[in-house]
Formats: sequence, C-alpha cells, structure tokens
Amino acid sequence: MGLQFSGPSSSFSTANPSSNGKLPPPAIQRLSSSSTPNKRKLRVILIQLFGVFFLLSWGLYPFLLNNEGLTTRLHLNPVVEALLPQSHDKALSSLHVNEKVHVGNDETEEEDSSKVKEAYVTFLSSIKDENYLLSTRLLMFQLLHDPLTVDKTHSRDIVIITTNEINQETEDMLQDEGAIIQKVDYLIDGFILPNQSQHEESQQQKSNNNHWKDQYTKLHIFNLTDYSKILYLDNDVFLLKSLEDIWDSENSEIPFGLGGIGERSKQNYVESDLRIEPSIYDNNAERDYLNAGFMLIRPDQELFENLTKTRGYKPFYMEQALINHYFDWEGDHPWTPLDTKFVSHYPKVSDMKEGYYSLHAKMWKDPVDGSVKAAWREGVQRMNDFWHWQRII
Ligand SMILES: *[C@@H]1O[C@H](CO)[C@@H](O)[C@H](O)[C@H]1NC(C)=O
Ligand SMILES: *[C@@H]1O[C@H](CO)[C@@H](O)[C@H](O)[C@H]1NC(C)=O
Ligand SMILES: *[C@@H]1O[C@H](CO)[C@@H](O)[C@H](O)[C@H]1NC(C)=O
Repeated sequence: MGLQFSGPSSSFSTANPSSNGKLPPPAIQRLSSSSTPNKRKLRVILIQLFGVFFLLSWGLYPFLLNNEGLTTRLHLNPVVEALLPQSHDKALSSLHVNEKVHVGNDETEEEDSSKVKEAYVTFLSSIKDENYLLSTRLLMFQLLHDPLTVDKTHSRDIVIITTNEINQETEDMLQDEGAIIQKVDYLIDGFILPNQSQHEESQQQKSNNNHWKDQYTKLHIFNLTDYSKILYLDNDVFLLKSLEDIWDSENSEIPFGLGGIGERSKQNYVESDLRIEPSIYDNNAERDYLNAGFMLIRPDQELFENLTKTRGYKPFYMEQALINHYFDWEGDHPWTPLDTKFVSHYPKVSDMKEGYYSLHAKMWKDPVDGSVKAAWREGVQRMNDFWHWQRII
C-alpha cells in the first residue's frame, strides 16, 4: 500500500495527466523537484517506514484491543480469530463498550454492568444420544464464533445448564469451547407427571426422547438471578442470523418476566402429541400457546418459586404446560409475544429466505426438508473446520 511511493518521483509526473495541464502538480512532486537527491532519498525512506508501520498496526489492531477478552474469556487462538471477519467488528464494538464503561464513577459502573448482564442459556440433560451434545456445541459455536451468526457485541455469556447425567469430561470440553457450566439438581418432587401409559405411547411417537424426567429441571433458568435477562434456547435451535437484535427488539421489556413465540391456539396443545404444523399457520392465527424452546426471561427467585408451586394444569407437556398455565394470556401474568421471525418452530425451506433468525428442530431425526438439513450439516462442518484449525495453529 505505502510501497507505491517508493519509486522515483518522476514516475508521478508521467502517471499524472494533470501535471501537463493547467492544474498545479501534486504536492509531493513539487517538493521532490525542488530538493537535493539526498533529501529525496531520506523522504522516500521515511515514507516507506510509515507504510510499514501503518500495515503492521492495521494487522495488529484487533489483537491490541481484544487481547484480554480473547485469552481470558474465550480461550481463543488469536491467529484463528483474526482470520474470521468478525475480528474487526469485535474490535469496534469493544471500543464502543469501553467508551460506555468509562462514563461515571466506579460505583455506578459496577451497578450498571451487573444490571444489564445478559446471557444465552441452554440446557443439556442427556448425551445418550450424542446428537444433543453436537447440537449444543453447534449452538455455542454459532453464538460465539461463526461470522454468520455471532453475537457481535461479545458481551453476553453462554451458560449451559447440566445435571448429574453429564460427565466431567463433557463439561470440561464445553467449557473449553467457551461455555459457563451451571450444574443443577433435578426438580422432580411434587410436580405433576403425565400418566405412565400416556407417556409410553408418546415416547414411541417421539422416537426415544428418553429424558422426560428432566423437563421440570429446566425451570432453573428462572433462578439465574446473576443475569438481568436471559435468552433461553433449546439445544436444538439452529441459528440463521445473529440473535443480538432480540435484546432491544419490540416487546423485549417483558413486563411479567417472560417473552416468546407462540404456536396456534392452546386448545390444540393441552393433551395431544400431534405437534403437526396447522394448515392455517398464518400471522392472523392466535398464537397463545408458548413454545418453551425459545424464551426471553427476566430471572427472579420469587418468580422461580411461584413456578415450582404451580399446579392445576394438564401435564402432557410438563414444564411447557406449567409455563403456559402460569403465564396464561387470560391470567394475572400473561407472557409477551415477540417478533415471530426470531424462531420457526416448524422449519421450512422458505424460512431461510424469509428472514427468520433461527430454526427449532432436531435436524438429525425430525421430519425436516432435505435442504434445511443440509444447511444444518453445513453449520456442523463450519464448526468442525473452525475447531480443527484452532487446534492446529
Ligand atoms: C390418568 O389416567 C386416569 C385414568 O385413565 C385419568 O382419570 C386421569 O385423569 C389421568 N391423569 C392425567 C394427569 O392425565
Ligand atoms: C435459587 O437461587 C438462589 C440464589 O441465587 C439459591 O440460594 C437457591 O438455592 C436456588 N434454588 C434452587 C432450587 O436451586
Ligand atoms: C409470586 O406469587 C405471589 C402470590 O401470587 C405474587 O404476589 C407475586 O407477585 C408473584 N411474584 C412474581 C415475581 O411473579
């Protein structure tokens, strides 16, 4: 870049058509023609040095700004990080964050930062089917590293809730890849369970989804009071775009502590396993039944305790049924509907072109269109490539 200045100054005058016209010659040429050969040499060297310095500082820019974040938070190899396009954005956004933090005195700084601490949270309750581990890692990769979907603010934690079912080795790996592990006890006692026979029947339909007993344990997300707000995602949510828009999207104030995306009328979901996409699934259909696989939540210990005491609902969908009962639109604390584009609970090929942010399905076994599955496999490939290079360099 700076090297084009290193040729003899005469090349400027031949290359520049204006030098023969009425306009005065460029400043550099004028200076050059009036100086001795030694002075000119010196100037050329200085310009070259400046060029080299400019190139170096441009290349090192992301590292200089983000060294701390990269090494302490993400355990990232800076070389790999630099190869990804988000490095530049990341540098810019961390500049921006730093500017904000330095306004005001130290006390209010700490208060403010704890108030606005946010996190993406998922729940890994079993790895008997290893695809759950794969999709959990993919979700993490998409949130932290994939340039197509990364949260470019790099300001939000990724928390994975685990139970005793998950061994130390797995937890260590997830932590190495950037997660904060939050191990919790089962929440089983006192909750209503579906009838056994009913359950077994549904199990066959759900083809070996073995961990129904864990479902109430997911309610722990309401007790993550270190965070002012969390976005809970089932570990089979696949991102198409960065979810960072959701945090200050329309309705994200969630007055009763819960926002999400509904499915058609709750009447269809009380006691049936027929989660088939309704034929009239349009924006006018009432979506009053919340899908508990994607929820914006304001954690609150009292709310958590209220939820664990909730009874009187039909338990077919366990924690999802409980949540829908407590946050019923006809009750005292209705849940808040968010922009339906944030997640498609019935992924279709067209969703990928219509601006959806994410698709919710077990891509390795649910009946989803082949090109949707191909997009997911591509995501997995991107993740594998990323970690492969990460380990080589
Ligand atoms: C369980 O089955 C019994 C008998 O079929 C029925 O009376 C009861 O309501 C069912 N309970 C639940 C929670 O579905
Ligand atoms: C909920 O969180 C509080 C503190 O944040 C903790 O003391 C309590 O044990 C948690 N409840 C459960 C059931 O884990
Ligand atoms: C918990 O329930 C009590 C009693 O119904 C209610 O007064 C309180 O507002 C609820 N708390 C939250 C945080 O929803």
